[in-house]
Amino acid sequence: MHIPVLLNEVIEYLNLASGKNIVDATLDGGGYALAILEKIGPEGKLLGIELDGELFKQTETKIHEAGFEKSAILVNDSYVNLKTICEEKKFEPDGIVFDLGLSSWHLEASGRGFSFKKDEPLDMRFSPAAAKTALGVVNQYGPEELEKIIGEYGEEQFAGSIARSIVKARREKPLMTTLELVKAIETSVPEWYKHRKIHFATKTFQAIRIEVNDELNNVKKGVAAAIDVLKKDGRLAVVSFQGLEDKIVKEIFKKEVKGGRIKLAVSGTIRPKWAEQRENPRSKSAKMKVAEKIKV
Ligand SMILES: C[S@@+](CC[C@H](N)C(=O)[O-])C[C@H]1O[C@@H](n2cnc3c(N)ncnc32)[C@H](O)[C@@H]1O
Repeated sequence: MHIPVLLNEVIEYLNLASGKNIVDATLDGGGYALAILEKIGPEGKLLGIELDGELFKQTETKIHEAGFEKSAILVNDSYVNLKTICEEKKFEPDGIVFDLGLSSWHLEASGRGFSFKKDEPLDMRFSPAAAKTALGVVNQYGPEELEKIIGEYGEEQFAGSIARSIVKARREKPLMTTLELVKAIETSVPEWYKHRKIHFATKTFQAIRIEVNDELNNVKKGVAAAIDVLKKDGRLAVVSFQGLEDKIVKEIFKKEVKGGRIKLAVSGTIRPKWAEQRENPRSKSAKMKVAEKIKV
């Protein structure tokens, strides 16, 4: 269901070859994982990590049915714990890839309120272990806190009026579903904002999801851990879909280049080719950065 983004570029820049040990830190439906397994052959090993338990089970079955049971080590956990996972599994990676954000499956089939196009309960958690839910954020956060997350994580220009509108709506009745939230957003943005290519609720939904799953802190911790565990000459590729994540990756890479542990395998950012953007509109916002470890 989820079409992998920048797959050829990930394969190319990870320098995949038979016998390599690779971490896919965001397994999802196994789009990258299956392609990586083909390239590293029976001599290589893939360590696949996925936080979402439901998605994990489906993908585990898929990878086993594809005949890769022996070469795939699959873990239902957060990539934040990458270091411990690698230590426990005695896994020394030659390459690590992160493909950040959510899966198309979350939007289309999870039933957890990730999409503003479906009427579902406000949840938005990747894992039931998450401390927050969208329901809690929307109904319990104060107006300033709501404005801050919608403004910062959603980069939404109408964060203030959206926050006030949510607070006003929930005074009458708690907002329980995605469409109730969409309605509160709709009443707070100008008419022209409702007729743009990007749906008026997109940024608010993104912000709430990031808050619920603590996504930006996870990226910081996960990418830092990846640099720690990577073998010398190993490669790290990070695909992100929004500016805030890309900025975090850029800053970590900059600091580590300065410290002499890594070098950039490509300067700047790799973007999907036009053909991919045309075939898979979701890929349009993708940006990939690649580093190589030069000192342990
Ligand atoms: C964009 S998808 C990855 C797509 C995958 N590369 C493919 O081609 O099939 C991102 C995945 O990361 C998972 N995820 C999000 N946060 C995570 C975390 N902290 N640890 C592990 N997986 C996480 C999501 O559940 C989602 O399945």
